[in-house]
Amino acid sequence: MSDGIDRRSMLKGSTAALGAAGAAALGSASAQAQDVASPSGTPNVNTSITLNSTSRSFAHEARVTLLDLLREQAGLPGTKKGCNEGACGACTVLLDGERINACMTLAATCDGRSVTTVEGLAAADGTLHPVQRAFIEQDAFQCGYCTSGQVVSAVACINEGHAGSEEEIAEWMSGNICRCASYPQIIAAVQQAATEMEG
Ligand code: FES
Ligand code: FES
Repeated sequence: MSDGIDRRSMLKGSTAALGAAGAAALGSASAQAQDVASPSGTPNVNTSITLNSTSRSFAHEARVTLLDLLREQAGLPGTKKGCNEGACGACTVLLDGERINACMTLAATCDGRSVTTVEGLAAADGTLHPVQRAFIEQDAFQCGYCTSGQVVSAVACINEGHAGSEEEIAEWMSGNICRCASYPQIIAAVQQAATEMEG
């Protein structure tokens, strides 16, 4: 894009919208004790999870993945579906604090566990997580499709203690593909956030 300021403003806006969507989702989550059934098929499994710090229960078919449950039943579309076969990292979420590919995880196996999506990273007052802020400040995305997964994965990467150098970050973030090749900026963002989180 020819005007860097305009592009930066656009990126800030889209991320702010992501945060607002997350806040809205959290708000609606608190009002729902039992969520709607899967739109297709006969629900035959009940799964209860702590989703972004809120207790949620879902009735669904046994075949439903965590990714589809999040996007289609929980109303949390921030987690993206890329390859849907465990190869791109767009669907990365935290399960009991550890990063996983939600497309490769059956929702039923998450019963009784804690799931954190990109919508759950910002504070309740909308203050962005240090990793989210760093991605904005480092211009660490272009189309943004991989960004939710990159951000969630970066949070785990830092918490795991795998952000000690550019090489280490590149290695431990290698499960998250960016087709726009924003890798230098992503690494810079992880380094910035790690400095803040570890300081
Ligand atoms: S959508 Fe899950 S790894 Fe690509
Ligand atoms: S910003 Fe476009 S795929 Fe990563």
